[in-house]
Amino acid sequence: MKPRHLITLLDLSNDEFRALIRRAIELKHLKSPYEPLKNKVLGMMFEKSSTRTRLSFEVGMVQFGGAAIFLSPRDTQLGRGEPIEDSARVVSRMVDGVMLRTHSHKAVETFAAYSRVPVINGLTDRFHPCQLLADMQTYFEHRGDIVGRTVAWVGDGNNMCQTYIHAAGLLDFELRIACPAGYEPESALVDWAGGRVELLRNPSEAVRGADLVVTDVWASMGQESEQTERNKAFQGYQVDASLMKLAAPDALFMHCLPAHRGEEVSAEVLEGPQSVVWDEAENRLHSQKALLELLLVTN
Ligand code: CP
Ligand code: NVA
Repeated sequence: MKPRHLITLLDLSNDEFRALIRRAIELKHLKSPYEPLKNKVLGMMFEKSSTRTRLSFEVGMVQFGGAAIFLSPRDTQLGRGEPIEDSARVVSRMVDGVMLRTHSHKAVETFAAYSRVPVINGLTDRFHPCQLLADMQTYFEHRGDIVGRTVAWVGDGNNMCQTYIHAAGLLDFELRIACPAGYEPESALVDWAGGRVELLRNPSEAVRGADLVVTDVWASMGQESEQTERNKAFQGYQVDASLMKLAAPDALFMHCLPAHRGEEVSAEVLEGPQSVVWDEAENRLHSQKALLELLLVTN
């Protein structure tokens, strides 16, 4: 039987997405030890840096009674050019699940196609589904179901923004994206979401009346050489207190982190009362555990 993967959020149905959020909240409040993955091992392959993703999967596996092994291209044969197809076949014969963070999205798809065990996308250039599990858990905890709400995305139409598009489609919320020309998300994704996603230039227009305001770095991992050019292009796109004032009075602010204070977000907003970024970061652990349970325990 083919293993079940999480390559994008579209590997989940809308009901499964909501069930995962509910389960993550339950697991967060679980007092007694629960070790459904005893003796199971998650392999984690990172082509890019990570604090939250690595830690949440590693801690989650330990809390579930299993273990996680960190692999980087610096010290595996992947970095020396061993084909991804070969690596997938070898690694997946030894572990019970694999989490990958790669530059190319195709690499995760290829790995999954050759893997005997579930594969989880821990961020690619196109999508970051695990982060959205935590973001949506955080919204549900603070404000209840997000159906029919309005989310404003301000900044780069990057992997996070594109995953918000998937979430808008699955959970049925309105997504207004404000980004400079040339930094839009893929148009096919916007089309896929139908009327739920609106592409704008003006951050004020996107944020007005929104229930949730989200942003991310202007230069993602792998785009470091474009930092200066991007800093120029994104002038006027900082989420600061005056922009937040346009949102609904009880609007929340989220950022997947790491954040650059004074660039995409002001320190005042990041540290302010509407910001739930620390809950959002903590929820990486609980939502990752719910995901591991779905893919590695029940399958
Ligand atoms: N938000 C997030 O994925 O953080 P890391 O890059 O630290 O894993
Ligand atoms: N867009 C960012 C997200 C980091 C978690 C990046 O890809 O670097």
